[in-house]
Amino acid sequence: MAARRSVQPVYSMCVQPAFIIGTNNEDGTANFAPITWVSVTQEKEEGYLLVISMFGTKRTKENVRRTGIFSANLVSRDMLPLMDFFGTRHARDGLKDVSGCRVVRGETLDVPVLDESRWVYECRVKKEVQTGLSSTFFCEILNIQLDKRLSCRDTFDVDLTVLDPVIYSGKYHSLGTLLGEIGDFLPGG
Ligand SMILES: Cc1cc2nc3c(=O)[nH]c(=O)nc-3n(C[C@H](O)[C@H](O)[C@H](O)COP(=O)(O)O)c2cc1C
Repeated sequence: MAARRSVQPVYSMCVQPAFIIGTNNEDGTANFAPITWVSVTQEKEEGYLLVISMFGTKRTKENVRRTGIFSANLVSRDMLPLMDFFGTRHARDGLKDVSGCRVVRGETLDVPVLDESRWVYECRVKKEVQTGLSSTFFCEILNIQLDKRLSCRDTFDVDLTVLDPVIYSGKYHSLGTLLGEIGDFLPGG
């Protein structure tokens, strides 16, 4: 057994994935912001909902509410300068300069997409749930753009080492090795 100690519930560490959310500003320019409160759920047999949660007031939240659409760009290790750039600026202080990255449009939705990202969701909001100052958006995934080096046989066959994702805990981490598949660790597996 691990030797644990109880502490005050002040942490939110959930081994978070790092995404940069791309949205359209009112004037048609692009806005990007890191969001790591990102998960998925499922409401029917086919298809998943991306779940993203945002606290307080921010342009990304306003844009998602107003337009109902956004891109979620997975952050790989080589994108950390972008993550820090977009995460340390509020759009309310002025238009975020996107000249340091190549921005393209989504293939299914008219949303700004970071060309560098190896896994991009194009999403439309289905439902918003408000809990105090946070808004959590349940969103249909209308398209996924995958890095061509990934060859997925099925929904469970995603080799994260190809994506080299940034994992967030309050600090940035990278992934270790691919350990196996479901069942590999059962007796005789
Ligand atoms: C690593 C990192 C992770 C973040 N994750 C979230 C998050 O999950 N939810 C949230 O509301 N804000 C999150 N933020 C804060 C927003 O990215 C930040 O407030 C940003 O400036 C908002 O930009 P905007 O005004 O263009 O929307 C995160 C910031 C960083 C640097």
